[in-house]
Amino acid sequence: MLSGVLARGRTLADQTADPGGPLARLAPPERARAQGLATGTLRHLGRIDALLAGFFRRLPPAPVRDQLRVMVADLMLAGTPPHAAVDSAVRLVRALPRGRQFAGLANAVGRRVAEGGTALWEATPEGDPPGWLAEALAAEYGEAAGAAILRAHRAEPPLDLTLKPGEAPGPWAAALGAEILPTGSLRLARPGQVSRLAGYDTGAWWVQDAAAALPVRLLGELAGRAALDLCAAPGGKTLQLAAAGARVTALDLSAFRMARVAENLARCGLAAETVVADARDWHPGRRFEAVLVDAPCSATGTIRRHPDLPFLRKRRDLGPLLALQAALLARAWDWLAPGGRLVFCTCSLLPAEGEAQLAAFRAAHPEAEPVPPAPGSPGIAPEWIDAKGGLRLRPDFWPERGGMDGFYAACLRKPAIAA
Ligand SMILES: C[S@@+](CC[C@H](N)C(=O)[O-])C[C@H]1O[C@@H](n2cnc3c(N)ncnc32)[C@H](O)[C@@H]1O
Repeated sequence: MLSGVLARGRTLADQTADPGGPLARLAPPERARAQGLATGTLRHLGRIDALLAGFFRRLPPAPVRDQLRVMVADLMLAGTPPHAAVDSAVRLVRALPRGRQFAGLANAVGRRVAEGGTALWEATPEGDPPGWLAEALAAEYGEAAGAAILRAHRAEPPLDLTLKPGEAPGPWAAALGAEILPTGSLRLARPGQVSRLAGYDTGAWWVQDAAAALPVRLLGELAGRAALDLCAAPGGKTLQLAAAGARVTALDLSAFRMARVAENLARCGLAAETVVADARDWHPGRRFEAVLVDAPCSATGTIRRHPDLPFLRKRRDLGPLLALQAALLARAWDWLAPGGRLVFCTCSLLPAEGEAQLAAFRAAHPEAEPVPPAPGSPGIAPEWIDAKGGLRLRPDFWPERGGMDGFYAACLRKPAIAA
């Protein structure tokens, strides 16, 4: 999986879902262990490489190096006993094409890393992720906040759940061993297999990062309203809209991903009309009182859950996404009924995909009136709200609680009599 990301440019999610992929033949506990090792290795790749660099004059070929990287993660992060971690690395190196000649090296390096133990790990500095991201974060948020965000990306994220309205947080928190967050989400530090948790089968909750649960709240009262979820899959926000009593139309470009929305709705006993279409060519023939545009983006706000992203996304990928976001926002505005609210959001840390998109839209639509989060909205800290009324959420917020995904969300109201 690591070589799939680094050498072949495939996401972990794509490799995980692939029926012919590296995890296909593994039993669930082995899959979980493999995924844990792949994500851990990528989260700490700078440090792992710095540590390994001390043992080589000339780097071994990439497949061997990837195997040694995973071995270091196995020793230092997974806490696998040294003989087991080193033996399996040696076996796997030997099985690589032309790997036999590197088996002795793997064994020697493994033993020395194991001897160095935690002291060696702690003495090795964490490196930055590949180039552009660290630079962009420092440029946007300043050196200190940029470094805090990168630190947050290296921590293993907790699992957050959104409870269906009407489910009592106290008893569920007790049943799941969860913390109730100030915004109402439940947080589990060590969740294990999600589908085995209490309440999964009955649809009492769904998995959704605490930050991702906030944009829908900006839409205000939803009961009985016609709501459009323009980029709906896999459906976390569709579920929120439906559970709040809205009459939901959920649209997404991807039929594959839309199947997940339907599954999630069924599991939670909720309903929505689902449409598979490109929002740029779609014609609803009616207007909606609430519209959510959770636009496709760089997903830089979710790096702590997807540590492969910094190795795959390039700065040049951003241009087409920015154009798509602007197009979706402009279309969605046309479909909003007078007096209705639209929320634009992206799980991005780059203001180009958040604050700047909103500013450009407002310059072209002076009639759009910003609606900041209601004062005293539960758990929303005043410092998360920017001068324009948008919500800027960052992974380094709530450090003592385990952080949150990065997000930008802003709400706009259309005048009751269209300007
Ligand atoms: C950030 S994800 C949405 C996450 C979702 N709202 C949730 O809360 O689970 C963006 C979605 O936009 C969809 N998408 C991308 N381009 C689109 C287009 N032109 N029209 C409609 N959907 C699009 C993608 O398939 C993807 O599922």
